[in-house]
Amino acid sequence: MSTIAIRQLPIPATLDAAGGEDFAQSAAVSNAVERAIWGHDDHSVDAEERLVMLQATPDREYVLGVARDGSEIVANARLSIPLRDNPQTAFVQIEVAPSHRRRGIATSLLSFVEQEMAHRGRTIMMSWSDARAGDEPAADARLVPPTGAGFFPASDASAIFARRSGFDLVQVDRQSVLALEDVEDALRLEHAARIIGSGHYDLVEWVDRCPDDLVEDYALLRQKMSTDPPLGGFAQEEEAWDADRIRREEQRTLAGGTSSLVCAVRHAASGQLVGHTILERSEARPAVVYQEDTLVLDEHRGHRLGTWLKAANLRRARDAWPTAERIYTWNAEENTFMLDVNVALGFRASGRTAGWQKVLA
Ligand SMILES: CC(C)(COP(=O)(O)OP(=O)(O)OC[C@H]1O[C@@H](n2cnc3c(N)ncnc32)[C@H](O)[C@@H]1OP(=O)(O)O)[C@@H](O)C(=O)NCCC(=O)NCCS
Repeated sequence: MSTIAIRQLPIPATLDAAGGEDFAQSAAVSNAVERAIWGHDDHSVDAEERLVMLQATPDREYVLGVARDGSEIVANARLSIPLRDNPQTAFVQIEVAPSHRRRGIATSLLSFVEQEMAHRGRTIMMSWSDARAGDEPAADARLVPPTGAGFFPASDASAIFARRSGFDLVQVDRQSVLALEDVEDALRLEHAARIIGSGHYDLVEWVDRCPDDLVEDYALLRQKMSTDPPLGGFAQEEEAWDADRIRREEQRTLAGGTSSLVCAVRHAASGQLVGHTILERSEARPAVVYQEDTLVLDEHRGHRLGTWLKAANLRRARDAWPTAERIYTWNAEENTFMLDVNVALGFRASGRTAGWQKVLA
């Protein structure tokens, strides 16, 4: 059997630069792994977009480790390291091409990643892994996180690997999908929510770039989004957002070929933005839309603002992106309020995502 070599792959600036071909091979491994999980290419991301998303910014840097079998890249480990907040943590993703599993490659990549963590004084490693919804494991084959909400199949390779490697299951998310042709429920809900909110609140919408006069308010909402949703057992601390970080993220998203529809809600009495929701779509995958953040500030909850925001943005997506076919969203299983809204909007469960955390000695 040939030997496997683990190396860091410096992230090139472009695909044409030195290392670009290796980067494209590593991106192909990521996409093959996504296809093996889901049985479709909705979550495949092309190499250009991946490259833009992995460029370092003042907010976050990335380390990419690859495993080679001869000259062929067959596995990746990506470390995403926050630089402005959360100084103890980093997020890791390990992906091994289906044809190269059970050869100890993930184990070697995890050692590489743990060394990188140690160099940087990081002690808390977080990760997510996915499983398709469908086959329901028996009760004794389910891993239930300490939240008690949701479960992940104990027999999934990622679960076996993670637990054996010292990770704890700290949360389970539900992946849900909505066919965009089925927005009748959403339109009815938008109408009902608007009646409740009108007079005290109004909606503000933008595409790709937040208006200058709203950007400070928007930065506060993005900051709150880092810790207001249920975190399960994740040791996530509040992120540090300001107008400059908003602009950097907007530029990065656009540079990767992705457009965003943002809908925010403004409190009439104070003039402040008190909630927002984001939908994103990549030009490379015009049928697929991602639901990103949805947040309503604590003191404004209970007025149907979350429903109003999400339903209004679904309507915008249908109008702005006529070739879009479906929307994916992820929610913590204990986030019953958001899940109830999503079910009422027509979303149906399509997958489970396990949240893993390992504290390094
Ligand atoms: C999880 C994953 C990374 C494992 O990669 P791998 O290279 O096959 O893992 P290793 O060979 O290092 O496995 C180490 C140990 O984990 C356990 N393990 C891994 N896959 C297993 C499986 N399918 N069945 C049973 N045990 C398994 C075994 O104990 C194995 O040791 P052994 O082969 O000596 O018995 C791979 O299946 C994968 O890429 N899955 C999709 C992406 C993902 O979920 N990544 C994890 C989140 S970061």
